[in-house]
Amino acid sequence: MITPASRILGTGHYLPSIVRTNADLEKMVDTSDQWIIDRTGIRERRIAPEGVVTSDMATAAAKQALEAAELKASDLDMIIVGTVTPDMPMPATAVFVQQKLGAGSCPAFDLSAACAGFIFGMSIADQFIRSGVMKNVLVVGVELLSRVINWEDRTTCVLFGDGAGAVILGPAGGATHDGKPRGLLSTKIQSDGLLAQSLMIPGGGSVAPMTTELIEQKKNKVHMRGQDIFKVAVKNLYSATKEALDMTGMTAEQVDWICPHQANLRIIDFAATRLGVPKEKVLINIDRVGNTSSASIPILLDENLRSGKIRTGDTVAMCALGAGISWGGAIVRI
Ligand code: UT7
Repeated sequence: MITPASRILGTGHYLPSIVRTNADLEKMVDTSDQWIIDRTGIRERRIAPEGVVTSDMATAAAKQALEAAELKASDLDMIIVGTVTPDMPMPATAVFVQQKLGAGSCPAFDLSAACAGFIFGMSIADQFIRSGVMKNVLVVGVELLSRVINWEDRTTCVLFGDGAGAVILGPAGGATHDGKPRGLLSTKIQSDGLLAQSLMIPGGGSVAPMTTELIEQKKNKVHMRGQDIFKVAVKNLYSATKEALDMTGMTAEQVDWICPHQANLRIIDFAATRLGVPKEKVLINIDRVGNTSSASIPILLDENLRSGKIRTGDTVAMCALGAGISWGGAIVRI
């Protein structure tokens, strides 16, 4: 039997209050509510108001997670923020979160693995806890994508939303009523740079430093070849979940919930069917929040823990894929 090193001590999430519906988008670009629902499953998404920045959303989610874990900010040994929409290129958004939480001088850094950022973060946190170097690690997935979306590009602007989700990982302990250990049972993370061009913000870095011309050409906004990502997403979400399960010796039937990255309902359906998992076990909120990239899984997880749908002792399989491409799977017993 697997002996987990770390366990989820608390979770939290934050969604900004502004709701942008498909009907709102119909007024902005040549699209339709029907197309968006049929091709993605999205009905509405949340948009951060002016003045709210990435670290504000991350901090709000982190505060909830700390409260749920019954910990203080000063109890944190490390802060990892998965994001591709940081407050600014330097310093890390994680240090602003640290400042806003009043978390002392623990290491705080950002992690760029796009939609897989949260699973990458959990995997890294788990290694530090496993080695005994760290005890309580805050892992946040947060995105303020509305500020890097080209709102004239119908192929991307209908997909994304803003939000944050947070988890505190701490040393494993305790068991379920039937004696199974609670905790993070496995993580599997991977990247393949061969598909790097499929999803990117091409401008603003060393390749194409920010100029007025670059801004006019919208090179500081998200560019995506959706079809390229779609195909690989179904294949890799299946394989990442399967490999993470294999590491635990469990089968898909033994999992209580699949908590997948919410990029497209069709991708989720195809991957779940391939895994042989019935629809009732697949957690979904894409209709309400759209694709929030690295925030997607921790938001979904927290919503379902707070509603009582996911209960202590349940086994949850998480999987995500995004720009990079980077992808991963994780199996957790709550
Ligand atoms: O989380 C990060 C990872 N990202 C993903 O996992 C995204 C993966 N990709 C996808 O989810 C899908 O590819 C999309 C939702 C982005 C697009 O759906 P699709 O079924 O692959 O559509 P498509 O790109 O093949 O486009 C089909 C048609 C095209 O028109 P023509 O060429 O057939 O005339 C598009 O121009 O749909 C058109 N189209 C739209 N029509 C109305 C594209 N976007 C829209 C739109 N409204 N918003």
